[in-house]
Amino acid sequence: MRNPRVIVMGPPGAGKGTQSQRVAAEFDVEHIETGAILRANKDVETEYGTPREYMERGEYVPDQVMNAVVEEEVADANGFVLDGYPRTEGQVEFLDTITEIDVVLYLAVSEETLIQRLTSRRVCSQCGTTYHLEFDPPERAGICDVCGDELVRREDDAPEAIRTRVREYENKTVDLLDLYRSRDLLTEIDGEQSPNEVWADIERAITSAI
Ligand code: AP5
Repeated sequence: MRNPRVIVMGPPGAGKGTQSQRVAAEFDVEHIETGAILRANKDVETEYGTPREYMERGEYVPDQVMNAVVEEEVADANGFVLDGYPRTEGQVEFLDTITEIDVVLYLAVSEETLIQRLTSRRVCSQCGTTYHLEFDPPERAGICDVCGDELVRREDDAPEAIRTRVREYENKTVDLLDLYRSRDLLTEIDGEQSPNEVWADIERAITSAI
């Protein structure tokens, strides 16, 4: 069995990060999480401005920036899970020039669910571990189980930014699902299930694709 090359797609809050982490650990591949890479480089100046300017509003960062980030990460990886990339046609076209893909997993959740998940998500300000106040709470309120640091709400989990993120996804990303479906690469997963049930479907889809 070779190391898989996986894309995980879905609206904001679908569980992409939660499940991609597990894909990376279980299949021993690189977790390429574009949102996290951007958060770690929020104030880096590019000719298009800083990532922060886009992210705080919930808008997509320009393709030129994203493509350069992913090109470097993919080049160094022996198998990967792309979490949050590609999100635009331009990103798909670029990705096609640098690698092949084994499977695209689409985590389907309703808008009601994703808003519920995002408004109750908390992340560790130090190590980035993600929690949910109801479904996956920390042992001690407000404190990270892993490193003991403070849990905070992500800046783009404010209601106005969530609305913009969902609109960006609907306007720029949803059509990509049909594109990957037409290439026979897309597997739709019911993202409303429990994390373990979602994982079981994902594991099956990846194993049968490689
Ligand atoms: P990014 O960080 O990727 O944000 P996103 O796509 O909005 O997705 P999220 O991280 O919010 O959600 P997720 O699907 O990973 O869900 P999670 O697992 O955390 O990107 C941030 C920003 O960066 C973008 O808005 C954009 O500005 C920029 N950006 C990034 N990539 C870009 C690109 N390619 N092009 C342009 N711009 C880009 O789960 C959510 C919550 O639900 C958690 O609390 C979790 O515990 C809980 N949960 C997860 N699964 C379940 C379940 N099955 N049941 C119950 N609860 C669950």
